[in-house]
Amino acid sequence: MLRQACAPPWRRALVLPLACVGLLAAEAQSQEGPAAGLPLEEQVQLCGGCHGEDGNAVEEGVPSLAGQPALALTNQLIYFRERLRRNEIMTPQAQGLSDEEIQALASHYAEQPLSPPDGKPDEALMERGRELAREHRCASCHRSDFSGQQQMPRLAHQREDYLAQAMRDYRERTRGGPDTTMVDILRNVDDEEIDALAHFLAHFDRG
Ligand code: HEC
Ligand code: HEC
Repeated sequence: MLRQACAPPWRRALVLPLACVGLLAAEAQSQEGPAAGLPLEEQVQLCGGCHGEDGNAVEEGVPSLAGQPALALTNQLIYFRERLRRNEIMTPQAQGLSDEEIQALASHYAEQPLSPPDGKPDEALMERGRELAREHRCASCHRSDFSGQQQMPRLAHQREDYLAQAMRDYRERTRGGPDTTMVDILRNVDDEEIDALAHFLAHFDRG
């Protein structure tokens, strides 16, 4: 009801009553993510609830942040904050973070060591993934060890389920974000190929 009465002026074509201005300001504030304005250690605890205490994620669908290039993390957090990258869970978390807070979080996670993956790789899938990565020249941007650089995320040892989901999201254009490099690259890559690429990258071993 109150929300209705306080509808913004472009909807009501009237000047807002003063009482409503305060209410709308409070509403805007309540849209801040839980981490905004906290000290870094407390932010890291909140982020760690999903991304793992040390940035190594153990939950399905949640990416590890450890060992990512700082610029890649900074960009993605800004995309979430600006609601350019759309995700029900993560977009709200980034609301209200300042540029400085984002940079500090990005440097923190870039310095954490990324754990190697669990489980033994499937040799046939590894070979198929390696072939596809060569064919699409993935290493030309993500580096030959797939550790990422600048705005290009690390792929090696990222969670397999997240890598596959991220690639599907690019291909279906549901990820959002201003950088469409990956949308173009994955346009004609089918599910079987995505799964092989994800397996190969998650278990990447230079050996
Ligand atoms: C409630 C769980 C949750 C919390 C808390 C959370 N995240 Fe996330 N985060 C996610 C999920 C899920 C994704 C994957 C979104 C997707 O699939 O697009 C994600 C994605 C990300 C990404 C993108 C990584 C990449 O490789 O593209 C970054 C960066 C990130 N989160 C940083 C943070 C930071 C920093 C915090 C704390 C301020 C935080 N997250 C708190 C769930 C969470
Ligand atoms: C021309 C450079 C380029 C090439 C080639 C390239 N990528 Fe990317 N990749 C990027 C950039 C830039 C991003 C970040 C885009 C964004 O902001 O969403 C990215 C992001 C990704 C992500 C998202 C990771 C995350 O943490 O969210 C995955 C997965 C990925 N690339 C896989 C691949 C695979 C697999 C290939 C080969 C089939 C490939 N890339 C080839 C530039 C490239």
